[in-house]
Amino acid sequence: MKVQEHTSLKDHTTFRLGGEARYFIECIDEQEVKEAIMFAKEKDLPLFVLGGGSNTIFTDDGFPGVVLHIAICGVQVIQGIHDEAIVLVQAGEEWDGFIEQAMEEGFYGLENLSLIPGTVGGAPVQNIGAYGVEVSQFIEQVTVFDTKENSKKVFSNADCRFGYRTSVFKEEKERYIILSVMFRLQKVFSPNLSYKDIAKELDGKDVTPELLRETIIAIRTRKLPDWRKLGTAGSFFKNPELTKEEVGVLLAKYPEVPMYPHEDRFKVSAGYLIEHIAHMKGEKRGGVGVYDKHALVLVNYGEGTYDELEVLIKEIWYKVKKETGISLEPEVNIV
Ligand code: EPU
Repeated sequence: MKVQEHTSLKDHTTFRLGGEARYFIECIDEQEVKEAIMFAKEKDLPLFVLGGGSNTIFTDDGFPGVVLHIAICGVQVIQGIHDEAIVLVQAGEEWDGFIEQAMEEGFYGLENLSLIPGTVGGAPVQNIGAYGVEVSQFIEQVTVFDTKENSKKVFSNADCRFGYRTSVFKEEKERYIILSVMFRLQKVFSPNLSYKDIAKELDGKDVTPELLRETIIAIRTRKLPDWRKLGTAGSFFKNPELTKEEVGVLLAKYPEVPMYPHEDRFKVSAGYLIEHIAHMKGEKRGGVGVYDKHALVLVNYGEGTYDELEVLIKEIWYKVKKETGISLEPEVNIV
């Protein structure tokens, strides 16, 4: 177990913000995870589990306890019966690399989630989703270490309580450390073209897994910043879910707002609200700002601070609230 002290957290999150971690421990296997938990308990310090850091923002004060970085790697095909494959993936594997590897094996389903930054262990936490697919559709089970009961546990798909960008692991975020995820993938390719941007781009084409992945990558590259070049955590807010009545009130004032039914409610495009109602697209506050190609994405131009980001978040929140009555909720995890 490698213990570092006073480690800058900037280099461990894609938004590239935040002060120092008092201790930073990288764990390459389960034993090291247990040792890191003991280390924090003995010192009576709080513990924070970090994967790829693509959906986490630390404040300028940093983290006063132990940041446990999960770096457990490995991909194992457990079963390949009939037209399905069961694949066990360790939490520290890079997400997009895993999709590529699965496709090479002829295992499909995750193509629409291509190029999402982060690790496999982070995927179930917020039930990552894009272009009509959510990762929960392909998760068989998740193995965790329960820090409360000090034991390993297996969660079935239903136990994970997946929702829109949420799960039991996000609800009880201090408690569970994801060690591995078991996926149920398809051996017969059946593309999900339910998202209108994708259907439009692929209209009339012979859709192969490779073409679908390339198309998703092209769309994401056009709309979203490359975190290697510009600090970002993807969508900053969730798309708000409104009742039929609330939607009626909103449409009476803003008839153009894009929305679509989702379960018994309507999801409203937060990107639209921020661009066309709050007029914040492309705005900068100090070293941070609203991305000029997608208003739901906030970016760090390099030297941004959390204090500047907080000013920006509040300004967006108040403007949207004042005009529409909607309270935007962050999708990212602010520590
Ligand atoms: N829009 C604007 N202005 C903008 C951006 C978007 O008006 O600057 C409107 C447009 O009408 C557009 C609509 O919003 O058609 C939807 O935009 P987009 O297709 O980019 O999707 P989104 O709802 O903004 C969600 C996810 C993304 C995911 C895409 C594609 C959330 C919070 N975000 O964004 O996920 O990639 O759909 O499925 O649900 C992420 O979670 O980090 C993320 C990037």
